[in-house]
Amino acid sequence: MQSRMPYNQYQLSEIVKSLQENHISPLKFTYFAGGASRFMAVNSHPKYGIPQIETRLLRNKIINVFQDMAKPSTLNVLDIGCGDGRKAKEVLSCLTQWSIVKYLPIDISAGMLTNAIRTVRGNDQLGSIEIQDIESDFEEIDEIKSNQIRKHKKYQNSLLLFLGNILGNVQSPEKVLNGVIKLMDPGDHMLVGIDLWNQDKIQEIRQQYEFREMFDLVFTTLEYLGAKQGDGEFDVLVDQDDHEVKIMFKFNRVWEYTLPFQIHYRTITAHFEKGDSVQLASSYRFSKRKLAEIMRNIHLPDSQTYEDDAGTFLLINFIK
Ligand SMILES: C[S@@+](CC[C@H](N)C(=O)[O-])C[C@H]1O[C@@H](n2cnc3c(N)ncnc32)[C@H](O)[C@@H]1O
Repeated sequence: MQSRMPYNQYQLSEIVKSLQENHISPLKFTYFAGGASRFMAVNSHPKYGIPQIETRLLRNKIINVFQDMAKPSTLNVLDIGCGDGRKAKEVLSCLTQWSIVKYLPIDISAGMLTNAIRTVRGNDQLGSIEIQDIESDFEEIDEIKSNQIRKHKKYQNSLLLFLGNILGNVQSPEKVLNGVIKLMDPGDHMLVGIDLWNQDKIQEIRQQYEFREMFDLVFTTLEYLGAKQGDGEFDVLVDQDDHEVKIMFKFNRVWEYTLPFQIHYRTITAHFEKGDSVQLASSYRFSKRKLAEIMRNIHLPDSQTYEDDAGTFLLINFIK
C-alpha cells in the first residue's frame, strides 16, 4: 500500500476525533488510496457474494426502470458512492443501447473515481461514453453543493444509482437520503440497493465478512495512521437486536513500544490501551419494518421494489 497520507486536514481531524470520542474509525475514509484497490479485491471475493446478487438483480430489472422512465433518448446517470464502477458498467451497457448517456460518478475517494472510470472505459461498448467525475461527500449535500453537482447534468432526465448497501453504512439513512434527493428533478429516478436482514442466516452473514481481504480493507485508515495488524486481532460481531454487522479490532500486543497506541492530530489525541477495541466497519441490514419507517420519513412518495428470490437484497426504484 502507498505510504503517503491520503487525508486532508479536515478529514484527519474528523477521523481522529471519531477515534478519540467513540473509538470508531469512520468507514467512509477506508476507500482512499490503497483502500481503493483493496475494495476491488473484496468486491470480487467469493465469500462476499452480495455484489453478485445485486448485479444480477440490476441486470434483470434495469430495463423495467428504463421503461418506467418512458425510455428517454438522452440520460444522465449519477453514480453516488460509485466504488469501482462495476455495477454502473452493467447499467450503462444496457442503457446505452437505447440512450445517449452521460456518466457522473460521485465519490469521496479520488482513487475510487479513477477505478470507476477505468472500469467503464474498459468496456468495449462504453469506450467513448461522456464522463464527468465528481469528488464529493454525499453526507454533506446542502443546497449549495447540490446546485454545484446539478450543473454537471447535461440532459433533462437523470437516473441516480445509490448501490451496495451504502445506506446501511451511514448513521442516519433518512438524513442522507433526503440530502441525495436534492440532486433529483421531477421525473428523475433513483435506484437504491440495500441488504435485507434475515434472522435465520446469522452464521452466513458473519462469514460474509470474515476473510483476509475484508480485514485488510477495513484496516486501511488505521494503517495510514500508523497502526499495524499485528498490534491486535479482528472480530466480526452480528448484533441481532440492531441488525448490524460490526468489524472490530482489539489492540492486544504487549510490546511496550506499540502500546498504548496513540494518534495525535493538533490538539486531539486518540489513545488505545491493551484490550481497547476500535470499530472499523458497521453495516446495517434493513428489516421491512425499518424500511417502511424510512420511506415515511423521506420526501419521495413513489417507489417500486425488486427483491432476489432468497430475500437477501432489495432494489428500490424511487421516483421524484
Ligand atoms: C461499499 S462501496 C459501494 C460501491 C458501489 N456503489 C457498489 O455498489 O459497488 C462504498 C463507496 O462509497 C464511497 N463513499 C462512502 N462514503 C461516502 C461519502 N460520505 N461520500 C461519498 N462517497 C462515499 C466509498 O468511497 C466507496 O467507493
